[in-house]
Amino acid sequence: MRKHVKSNVSWVGYLDWDLKKFHGDEFSVDHGSSQNAYLIEEEKTVLVDTVWLPHTEDWLNSLKAEIDLKRIDCIVMNHGEQDHSGALPVLMKEIPGTPIYCTANAVKSLEGQYGKQGWNFHPVKTGDTLDIGNGKKLIFIEMRMLHWPDSMATYLTGDNILFSMDAFGQHYACAEFFNDKADQELLYREAMKYFVNILHPFARFVRPKIDEILAMNLPIDMIAPSHGVIWRDDPLQIVTKYAEWADNYQENQVTVVYDTMWKGTEKLAYAIADEVHAQSPDTRVKVMNLSHEDKNDVMTEVFRSKAIAVGSPTCVNDVLTSVAGWLSMLRTLQFRGKRGGAFGCYGWGGGAVKIIQEDLKKAGFTVIGQSVASLWNPDEEDFAKIPSFVQELLGENSPAGEKSAADGADAKTEKTNGAGVAKPETGAGSADSASRTAAAEKAQPAETAASAPRKAVCPVCGWTYDEAVGYPEAGIPAGTRWEDIPDSFRCPVCKVPKAKFELK
Ligand code: FEO
Repeated sequence: MRKHVKSNVSWVGYLDWDLKKFHGDEFSVDHGSSQNAYLIEEEKTVLVDTVWLPHTEDWLNSLKAEIDLKRIDCIVMNHGEQDHSGALPVLMKEIPGTPIYCTANAVKSLEGQYGKQGWNFHPVKTGDTLDIGNGKKLIFIEMRMLHWPDSMATYLTGDNILFSMDAFGQHYACAEFFNDKADQELLYREAMKYFVNILHPFARFVRPKIDEILAMNLPIDMIAPSHGVIWRDDPLQIVTKYAEWADNYQENQVTVVYDTMWKGTEKLAYAIADEVHAQSPDTRVKVMNLSHEDKNDVMTEVFRSKAIAVGSPTCVNDVLTSVAGWLSMLRTLQFRGKRGGAFGCYGWGGGAVKIIQEDLKKAGFTVIGQSVASLWNPDEEDFAKIPSFVQELLGENSPAGEKSAADGADAKTEKTNGAGVAKPETGAGSADSASRTAAAEKAQPAETAASAPRKAVCPVCGWTYDEAVGYPEAGIPAGTRWEDIPDSFRCPVCKVPKAKFELK
């Protein structure tokens, strides 16, 4: 079980070859994964993290074969999530009283999940150190929201290893352990999929955290994450990639995402894809049916795209459930700098196009004004709309920002069918819309211009509302005072209510 990493550092984790799902069923795993725990054996013996609960018995038996557990002087828990802490309760029964170094938030997480068991916690903050002998020490670095509020990284001096926790990881079982030995195509595919689906909601924290770590001037010979391979060959290559991915990343790609009932919406999807290629032959086009494709893989393709077209037929005044669930997930990922357009068929009543447009807007997309809504089956008139729709999607006419779907232009694109049951403007009455409207109405920048702008900071994740900047993504203009924001406002990252924010 033990694999040599460097000097007196060993990998003592669990290679999970058969893992197929992660976070319940939210994340698909195609090539296994690993829960990486590490053993540092200097004058003090340090265990960094454990493994997921189902592997506890195998893991503990393997660890006991390597080391007398009583030799472990302390445990570093970089993160409380169960894939890393699941085996901790059983381990602590074997070595009660062993000091556990983790963040204050991790104490909350561990006690919340496993109860108050009187464990010997030592909460640490960024910059705190622990001498482990032989001239080496551990330096702790809080990594809030990478992945959750309790996350931290641990740096080992002398060997210059950054145990980075979830950041820079991949769900990828690789017996060769190191990035230079891994299948490079697979490694980067899995690293991107992991970043997109797990870390992208918190992408705004990536660049400041990278800058903070680089400013510490710590030489980095290896980055040892908690999943997947250890980066030892040019370890900063993955840091560079993260900086790139966190900065409104896009390639020259358009992805058409849809589901269909009787193939009408599918015909539109295929025609849109053909038209993208016809208008822009260098643009890569992907077409993905949400009922057949893995949703995480679809998200990765959306992440790579500069624009997407989303289609659904209208069914009982709504989009299909496959599309609804996917749009809900899309909203959490917080992509920025991408265009989006909507299309779909309807019969007795429309509405799907409007719903998609509203949801795309909530997800941070710039929604184009044109859409294609087809009564019954697409006919010549509908197909004739596609060139102009694609042109706008590609950003080559009618700048989306000048004529967005939120202005209501899209509603005119659905023909009436005689039944008179077109969907009302779904989403217009949502809490988000109400909050934005209320905020916009209450905002009186002119009256407050004389006051120095303040900042309100989320106490959990550190997301900051700056009065000087406002929160344009939610329709809150620059200059809006904190007290003028509705009480229903919540941190857009971790959902902490407004009342808990700290005003500075
Ligand atoms: Fe790998 Fe956030 O747990």
